[in-house]
Amino acid sequence: MSAASSAALAVEGISKSFRLGRESFQALRGIDLALAAGEFVSVVGPSGCGKSTLLRIIAGLETPDAGRVTIGSSTPAETTAAHRLGIAFQDHALLPWLSVAENIALPYRLAGMTVDQARVQELARLVGLGDFLRARPRQLSGGMRQRVSIARAMVLKPVVLLLDEPFGALDLVTRRHLNLEMQRIWGELGTTALLITHSVDEAVQFGNRVFVMAARPGRMHAEFAVKLPRPRDRRVTASPEFVALVQKVAAALDDATAASTASGMPG
Ligand SMILES: Nc1ncnc2c1ncn2[C@@H]1O[C@H](COP(=O)(O)OP(=O)(O)O)[C@@H](O)[C@H]1O
Ligand SMILES: [Mg+2]
Repeated sequence: MSAASSAALAVEGISKSFRLGRESFQALRGIDLALAAGEFVSVVGPSGCGKSTLLRIIAGLETPDAGRVTIGSSTPAETTAAHRLGIAFQDHALLPWLSVAENIALPYRLAGMTVDQARVQELARLVGLGDFLRARPRQLSGGMRQRVSIARAMVLKPVVLLLDEPFGALDLVTRRHLNLEMQRIWGELGTTALLITHSVDEAVQFGNRVFVMAARPGRMHAEFAVKLPRPRDRRVTASPEFVALVQKVAAALDDATAASTASGMPG
């Protein structure tokens, strides 16, 4: 079996162009990516390099011009139809008139399934919101709302969890705190996950591997294996090994950004 055929998530030769007025421009070219079951992979890259487009293609929200995505042995459309894809984006889009429990349970309703209240409560506890089941989103802090959306993304036991800058809108302190909690949650659930972030620290803190993308066209530029112990708490993130790896990834990102600016149109 090839690496792709045994992967929990396999992205093979994905290319995608968008129309820009009369011209067409290539947002992604020849993207390959394979995640083993239970693996956590981070992706960083300059703004506009196609990270969100890649995630949208994996989620079946966008069709690639070439290449294919396989989740287990299914297509993205089949996985979505089976409600086995978990997605959390930066704008967490909680429904303000629903309680925390109802927001977490929303995927059951959208799927026409009976709500598993025990599962909803277990996830709420897992993300530290066990005492806030009846609260409305406006009564929560930004970090708490983010945790609701992450619980919601996981409620139907997704085979793959897609995270597009889920902590992007939070302040640094909340982010750090949530990062640790997320690692714990992920450790307990063991879901295969792909995280897009603009924070190199976050990428290294979470990832078994970190990919760096370049832009115009969006492509893979570098890959790093992260062999640091877990949980990656403050002791780990203050270690010379962590700091050195963050510097290496940041240098690759600088490199990728320079390569992107040199290769195409501005902006
Ligand atoms: N639906 C679309 N139509 C046209 N251009 C798009 C569309 N979606 C994304 N793009 C363009 O594709 C490029 C990559 O976008 P995106 O994937 O959002 O980048 P990133 O998430 O890395 O910042 C950008 O130049 C963006 O403007
Ligand atoms: Mg994006």
